[in-house]
Parts: sequence; C-alpha cells; structure tokens
Amino acid sequence: MTTSITSPSAAVWNAWEAEGRSYQLITDRELLLFTQHFPIRGGHIAVDVGCGSGGFTRQLHRFGYDVTGIDFADAALNAARRTPLSGVRYIRHDLNKGDPLNLRMHGIDLVVCRLAMPFLTDPVSWIRRVRDSWLRPGGRMYAVIPVVGDDIGRPGGMTERELAPLTLGWAQAVRYNLRGPLACLALRSTAT
Ligand SMILES: C[S@@+](CC[C@H](N)C(=O)[O-])C[C@H]1O[C@@H](n2cnc3c(N)ncnc32)[C@H](O)[C@@H]1O
Repeated sequence: MTTSITSPSAAVWNAWEAEGRSYQLITDRELLLFTQHFPIRGGHIAVDVGCGSGGFTRQLHRFGYDVTGIDFADAALNAARRTPLSGVRYIRHDLNKGDPLNLRMHGIDLVVCRLAMPFLTDPVSWIRRVRDSWLRPGGRMYAVIPVVGDDIGRPGGMTERELAPLTLGWAQAVRYNLRGPLACLALRSTAT
C-alpha cells in the first residue's frame, strides 16, 4: 500500500526545536529490549534516520557503533553537534528527496528510524529501499512508530493497517510494543 501525505517541513521542525519540544524519551525498557533484539557489535556501521538532536545516535555510539545521523532540520542537527564524538557524524538531508550521496550503499549494518517514519511521504517504498539498497545482506533495521487509531491517521503516527506492510519481505520481522503506544519493529534482511 502506498500512502501520500503532507509532512511538516524542515522549517516547521526548526521552529519546534526552538520551542524546546521533546519527543518520546529513551527509557531503560526500550534500551533493554533493543539490546535483546540487536546484538551489540562494536565497530559496526549504523545510520540513525530522522535523528533529531541525536539522543539515540549517541546511544548507538555508546553501544560501539560507528554512526551517521541524518535529519533535514538544522536546529536539531546543531543541537546534536553540540556533543562531538569520534565515530559520530551528522548529515543534513531530506529523506523524501532520495538517498544521501555519501552513504555506503549495501554496506550498513543497522538502520534506526525512531519516531520519524510517519513523516516520510511514502514509508513503505522508503523501508524497501533501506532493505534492498542501504543494508548489507543480513543487515538490520530498528523502527519505533507511534500507533494511532484509524480515525486519526498520520502525520505523527501510523495505523495498524499502515504498519502491516512495513514488515513484509524481511527474513525476520519481530514486532513488540512500548508504552505510548509505540510499535517497535526489529527487522533483518536476507543474508544473501
Ligand atoms: C519526532 S522527531 C524524532 C527525533 C529522534 N529520532 C528521537 O527519537 O528523538 C522526528 C525527526 O525526523 C526529522 N524528519 C522529519 N521528516 C524528515 C525528512 N523528510 N528528512 C529528514 N528528517 C526528517 C525531523 O526533523 C525530526 O528531527
């Protein structure tokens, strides 16, 4: 299923950042479940898509990943860059406008998309592109998506009907929930 929506622009996200808006905090339970589903591998390459001010990007760094955070909002990236870390870099890029130029295609071990998927104009096509062109064989994806009822719809969340196709075509797809309600998808692409 392909869905088309109008998403907030980078300017809108910049204004929200200036207001000091914060999003679902990273809880100990989220990290515990993440480590259970994603074996920690130091030196592996991760990309944190829609990274915002870099909270989860820095967490990936703590786990030992070499991380690239991607976002299209300068205000969020400026906040993220206030904590410089070796092995962490940030790229400004609008994910609705194709792939960033400097990604190692077919070479990424883990792609994270936390609370950003509902803002993409076509999440199903985008996640397929991640699976088929961004990840190395056997690479993984972690997505956290607010679940909303049919009557609300996007942006900001996805309905169960919109979530279902995101898990198709992966060698392994596990769904678990966090309070919110937030759907967490732990996906693995085929190894060959
Ligand atoms: C709700 S925030 C989540 C930030 C962070 N991932 C977290 O978990 O706190 C969503 C982020 O996605 C970014 N975003 C939304 N649409 C985007 C797009 N088309 N391209 C790149 N980033 C986008 C926004 O700028 C914002 O920083």
